[in-house]
Amino acid sequence: MKTVISTDRAAAVELLRKGDLVGLPTETVYGLAASALNAVAVAKIFEAKDRPRFDPLIVHLPNREWLERIAEVPASDRQLIGNLTDKFWPGPFTMVLPKLKVVPEIVTAGLGTVAVRLSIHPVFAEIASELDEPLAAPSANRFGRVSPTTAQHVLDELNGRIPLIVDAGRTEHGIESTIVAVQDGRITVLRRGPITHEQLSQFAKVASLAGAPKISSPGQLPSHYAPKTPLGLIDNAEDFFPHKDQRVGLLAWKSNGGSPGTTKRFAAVRNLTDRADLREAAANLFRHLRELDALDLDLIVAERVPSQGLGAAIMDRLERASHR
Ligand code: TXA
Ligand code: MG
Repeated sequence: MKTVISTDRAAAVELLRKGDLVGLPTETVYGLAASALNAVAVAKIFEAKDRPRFDPLIVHLPNREWLERIAEVPASDRQLIGNLTDKFWPGPFTMVLPKLKVVPEIVTAGLGTVAVRLSIHPVFAEIASELDEPLAAPSANRFGRVSPTTAQHVLDELNGRIPLIVDAGRTEHGIESTIVAVQDGRITVLRRGPITHEQLSQFAKVASLAGAPKISSPGQLPSHYAPKTPLGLIDNAEDFFPHKDQRVGLLAWKSNGGSPGTTKRFAAVRNLTDRADLREAAANLFRHLRELDALDLDLIVAERVPSQGLGAAIMDRLERASHR
């Protein structure tokens, strides 16, 4: 794939509309954007970034009205959230709130909450508003590298992996947005950024997770979705036989639901993909896990997926979910 750097906003809108990725400037750092409501498009973000695991992404809104179309604004926090958005939106300020169903699980890595922000960058704002859809966008760097603050940085990171980078020069802040959780009248800072503790404390009591002792792996954060049903990994469901009075759910990759004889052994089956497509599997992973988890099964078994490309991120998630 040839990666083009240009200032063509119409081309960006068109690519995003059909589920492709575009590198976009924001006031903080360049982001790698996809339509947030299209799970397969979002899977491409993890693929392009070589992320070995799924991290929840920030959803960027086209305008304020979109907030209540993707997130829940609890009555008890409505006033505070209104005050914060009046003051800091549009701008480098991200809020974590309970998510609504329209947001695909892959966007939030299976969490019940979604991070939302409204960028003030004129180019980003124009594209989002023309598209009139929220955009999932992490920083446009490969995994483990520093966030890009120019279009050339994005090209250095993602050349050949995305069709378009929209160039609007250097970003203003150069560091990522401040992320807060708002709950029960309190603000908790999850990531420090351009909006400071002092600024926030004019609105409510502020606690800081960012100052808490470091957790060795971000995947161990309690905020990561973990199924309550025990999960086991297997190579092939054809070779797996549940105990007689055990209700077992199957998350299928290889057996694709399996022969009728195989499927019958399971209390429930979810296929990650019908055509051995890792993007589709990634897009379906958290939703299917959550559905199986809701069935009060004794056990869920998941077939291992090939660990290349996006498959590594899928396997990472499955392994974490099974180590308990
Ligand atoms: O300035 C920014 O925020 C940039 C620009 C592109 O908007 N974006 C950015 O995204 O920094 P990213 O993916 O590099 O960092 C997003 C971080 C995740 O690593 C995670 O810590 C946090 O946001 N996050 C996202 N959703 C969350 C959720 N539901 N709960 C807690 N943390 C969340
Ligand atoms: Mg990042």
